[in-house]
Parts: sequence; structure tokens; C-alpha cells
Amino acid sequence: MTAKITHDDLLGFADRAVNLPRDVATEKRKQINTLRDRLSDHIAANPGFSLVKMLHAGSVAKGTALLTVNDFDVAVYVRRDEAPVEEAALLDWIAERLRAAYRGLIDPSQIEPGTHCVNVQFKGSGTEVDVVPVLYEGDADDRGYLVASDGTQLLTSVRLHLDFVRARKNACEHHWAQVVRLVKWWAREQKIRAPDGAFRCKSFMVELLCAHLLDRGLIVFDDYVTALDGFFDYVVRTELTERVAFTDCYSFGELPGGRIGEIEIFDPVNPTNNVARGYDAADRKRIVDAASEALDAITEARYATTKAQAVECWQVVLGDRFRGQ
Ligand SMILES: Nc1ncnc2c1ncn2[C@@H]1O[C@H](COP(=O)(O)OP(=O)(O)OP(=O)(O)O)[C@@H](O)[C@H]1O
Ligand SMILES: [Mg+2]
Repeated sequence: MTAKITHDDLLGFADRAVNLPRDVATEKRKQINTLRDRLSDHIAANPGFSLVKMLHAGSVAKGTALLTVNDFDVAVYVRRDEAPVEEAALLDWIAERLRAAYRGLIDPSQIEPGTHCVNVQFKGSGTEVDVVPVLYEGDADDRGYLVASDGTQLLTSVRLHLDFVRARKNACEHHWAQVVRLVKWWAREQKIRAPDGAFRCKSFMVELLCAHLLDRGLIVFDDYVTALDGFFDYVVRTELTERVAFTDCYSFGELPGGRIGEIEIFDPVNPTNNVARGYDAADRKRIVDAASEALDAITEARYATTKAQAVECWQVVLGDRFRGQ
């Protein structure tokens, strides 16, 4: 029996509805580079300025952004010994320094401290940038304490994360990042369907799971039907109880001896940082159940007798906008 929905259908959908178009990504990166360059000029002209540098850290930098992306994450490195300890004071302090650095480029009213980051808005394009603080003590690999979205401080390096992602993109050109974006799209659909933010599945977790599947040769990436089937099968089979970790920056012996989380997906930079920290049994179950539903739908699509039926099955996975080709 010939498959009703093929790799080409998924590729067409990805290009039409999932991926951030290349020219938009380039334009956004340019805006963020302007912020970075202006800051480094200001730092050069003002020795002793407490901000050290800026790095573009989010999905637009990694090439894994969705069309629907609305936050552009940058990390601003600040000298730890000069920065206020308390978070609200820290964010006010950073906002004030960014206003000084961007005088003439961005109106001071468009730089506002938020809950765990400073928000910078470009007027014309409406681009919103989340500036996340990293408390820095001069580490050569740009390790520092990142203020996470829940306010906790995590020792990590967004620069090494970019290297980590680039290595997987090089090992599996186009396909690895495309499968990441399709899985992120699936997760986004689940978030929309679930009431009150009940479904959680962080983008960085999706990237790390896909990196694990690539590194171990557990799934095939160059056919997107097979890849998604393989991804969901992995989640259902392991129920996300298998420890996921990488040896790019440390050895497995440095990982914690006992379990430290309901889901364990370790930061490739810091063996004590579980990226799935804060996910409980119910969160894990929701991800596994949704993956199981997706897997069933993909299987059913294979046996569909009409294209319309197969499209309907795939809509369970990718949402109503999926129409096949
Ligand atoms: N728990 C964490 N530990 C260490 N670093 C993290 C953690 N969460 C996020 N990061 C850093 O922040 C970056 C952005 O990750 P995040 O999951 O917030 O979204 P994203 O990749 O920008 O995706 P999108 O915005 O499209 O959902 C990661 O690449 C990583 O460098
Ligand atoms: Mg982001």
C-alpha cells in the first residue's frame, strides 16, 4: 500500500506554515546584531561599564525558530561582583545601563524591566527582545549564571549551547533542525489544545531529545514521516524515564548518582542542571499521552483509504492547518 502522506507533504507544510522564513530570520538577526554591536561600542568607549557583552541565544540564533516566534532571546553578560543581588533591582539596573548604551537608537521608554528579563522593543518592526541576565566572572567559554524564566540562576553557557546545536546541524544538514521544528510545532499544538497552560514541553528539551536520537542513531531524520514516527515511538517506549545526557562538555561520571527529576534531560554544559527540572509526573504523563495519540494517528494514516482520511489523522499531530499537498 502506498503511503497517503509522505515526506514531501510534511516538507511542504513545514515550508508553508511551520518555518520562520529565511529572510525574516536574517532581518531579525540583523536587528539583534545591531543591539550587540551598539553595546560593544558603548563598552569600548566606557571602560569599567558593568555590562560585558551580549550574545544572541534563542531559536532564531539556533535556526530552530517557528514562524510563530515572538520572543527573541539575548543574553547580556554582567559583572557578577558589580550587579545587584536581588532580581528586580538587577533588572532595573540592567535596563538603566541598556538605556544609556542605546541612547539615540532606542527610546528609553522601549526598554523596560519585565519579570525575569528586560524587554527591548524595536518600534518600526515591533520586534520584541528578551534580554536575559547572565552573571559572569570571566569564564573563557562564556559560562555564567543565567537567570532562568522562573527566576532561578543556572550555571550554563548559551555560547556552548549554540556550538552544541551547530554540531548536530552539521552532522545532519537541514533535516535535524527541520525535525526539531516539526516536533516544536506538535508541542505548540498540544499547548493550544490543553487548558490553562497544562501542557508543558520546553523548546530546549525538544532540541536535546532530538540531539539524543541523532547521536545514538535511534531514528532516521531524512524522511520526516519516519522521523516523527520514531520520535513519538521513543517517547512512548521510554515514557521519558530514560536519562538523556551528552558528553560534549563532561563525562557521564559527572552526572548525579541518583535520579534528580521525574524527567532527566541534562544541560550539555552542566551535568548538575536538569533542563526538565520542575516537570512533575503529571507533566510527563501529558507528554507521553500526547505522543501516544500522535503515534496512533500516524499509524492510522498509513492505512487510510483516502487522502482526506490520512490528512485528518495527521491533523491530530500537526493541527488543522495541515492539509497535505
Ligand atoms: N533550563 C535551562 N538550562 C540551561 N539553559 C537554558 C535552559 N532553558 C533555556 N536555556 C537557554 O536558553 C535558550 C533558549 O531556550 P528556550 O527553550 O527558552 O527557547 P528557544 O530555543 O528560544 O525556542 P522558542 O523561543 O522557539 O520556543 C537555550 O538554547 C539555552 O541556551
Ligand atoms: Mg525563544
